[in-house]
Amino acid sequence: MAKRIILEPSRTLAEFRLLPGYTSDDCSVEKISLTTPLVCGTDKNAPLNLNIPLVAAAMQSVSGSDMGIALAKNGGVAFIYVSQTPESQAAMVRKVKQHKAGFVRPCTIRPDMTVQDLQKLRETAGFSTFPVVDDNNVLLGIITKNDYEPSIHASAKIHERMIPRSKLLVGVEISNLKKANEILTESHHGVLPIVDREDKLLYLVFRKDIHNHLNNPLEVVDSEKRLVVGAALNTRDYEQRIPLLAEAGVDILLVDSSDGHTVYQARLLNWVRKNYPKIPIIAGNIITADGFRFLADNGAHAIKVGMGGGSICITQEQKGTGRGLATAILETAQARDEYFEKTGKYIPVIADGGVVHAKDICMALALGADSVMMGRYFARMEESPTEKVVINNRVMKPYWGEGSPRAREWRSQRYQQDKFAEGVEGYVEYAGKLSDNLSETIAKIKSTFCSCGTPTVADFHKNAVLELVSALSIREGQVHDIYLPGPESVITN
Ligand code: IMP
Repeated sequence: MAKRIILEPSRTLAEFRLLPGYTSDDCSVEKISLTTPLVCGTDKNAPLNLNIPLVAAAMQSVSGSDMGIALAKNGGVAFIYVSQTPESQAAMVRKVKQHKAGFVRPCTIRPDMTVQDLQKLRETAGFSTFPVVDDNNVLLGIITKNDYEPSIHASAKIHERMIPRSKLLVGVEISNLKKANEILTESHHGVLPIVDREDKLLYLVFRKDIHNHLNNPLEVVDSEKRLVVGAALNTRDYEQRIPLLAEAGVDILLVDSSDGHTVYQARLLNWVRKNYPKIPIIAGNIITADGFRFLADNGAHAIKVGMGGGSICITQEQKGTGRGLATAILETAQARDEYFEKTGKYIPVIADGGVVHAKDICMALALGADSVMMGRYFARMEESPTEKVVINNRVMKPYWGEGSPRAREWRSQRYQQDKFAEGVEGYVEYAGKLSDNLSETIAKIKSTFCSCGTPTVADFHKNAVLELVSALSIREGQVHDIYLPGPESVITN
């Protein structure tokens, strides 16, 4: 007989509803904050917060550099997938970190180039401000699209049209973006070249990037105002992979595994703590309190919870292991709170797998999750790494599991594989730009917080009231007994 047989069935998020609480003036939508911890602090660094409680799954069909950039700008974080070479994963991380580094490494030109050639360069480069330097990279001037008229100045040399060094506002050896921003804000200039003490050009800082930052008040950035990005690891090649990711500037590591309660994860966690103590690491997945305590004791900075619930996941069918996500969150969040009482260390819980709608996100948070990881949700967006296809007149994007034959193909060239797949390959309906989808999802979550009378995630954890509902009551909550007109008319009853 098994060691333990639990006869109470495990629960999914869809089986719960929230009861409203008192909505005070402090709970209006504009006052709701969805800021939440993603990882606790390392020995060297403070905890890292998200500004919306959402992270994108470390999957080939979800999180490349475009998703990393778009999601961090909107308040979340994406985890660049591990099923690729360490070099290409590090290149994706680097692209996110350099995206709006504030300090832009410029494309320079020489003073004897013609305006006509510059015009061609401008068309391929996609930007219009070029610093002019000599052979030693010493700054001579800057030329922008306002400094010439292609039809009149085509044969003019750049040095004849550029703004010379003597008329430029220049920062010498400034490495602090705040300082550079202050100089630009007080000036009439649109761009600030940064040079070293020998007048050699280092970077450009653009005024429009300051505005960009102001337009994205939720963006998640590091101390140098660079977007925050995570990267996934496997338990096999981390000793080769992490140095490249660290060099590229990765902010958070994540062990991508369906079962985290293993000696392999303990070894990995201990290696990272010893060799890269500044980089926080998320471990998982686990679905029991024992699993939580194991990863916490081994130094995880956040723990990912869920097994078998992902939309592309066949782990439960193949292996019979898994648990309803609601029960898994409840048990591990309780373990997290007990661990906090005992040690003073709050290790955030990330709910993962099968979360689709805003209401599911709310249930996961109410049950105790600090944030939610999603794959399918983000795979539908313009910014996911896949190409759109049309199937039956509907625009779709491919979506496949990291344990599907398609993703396993990469691993099978390098490692001995399990003999069976744990995921499938399919399509999800294209949903458009990430920011448009997020604004609707976030509006719904905030509206739920308003109804529950809880202005913050911490308050929601403390004061939300959940109720298990019957199958009939779920049906009552859906549209019923009416005729819905339209091309796909449905009569429900
Ligand atoms: P979704 O949000 O329901 O699509 O689930 C995404 C989650 O499924 C990921 O964050 C992973 O934890 C998990 N996952 C990804 N690929 C596979 C797979 O091939 N098999 C099982 N689970 C997977």
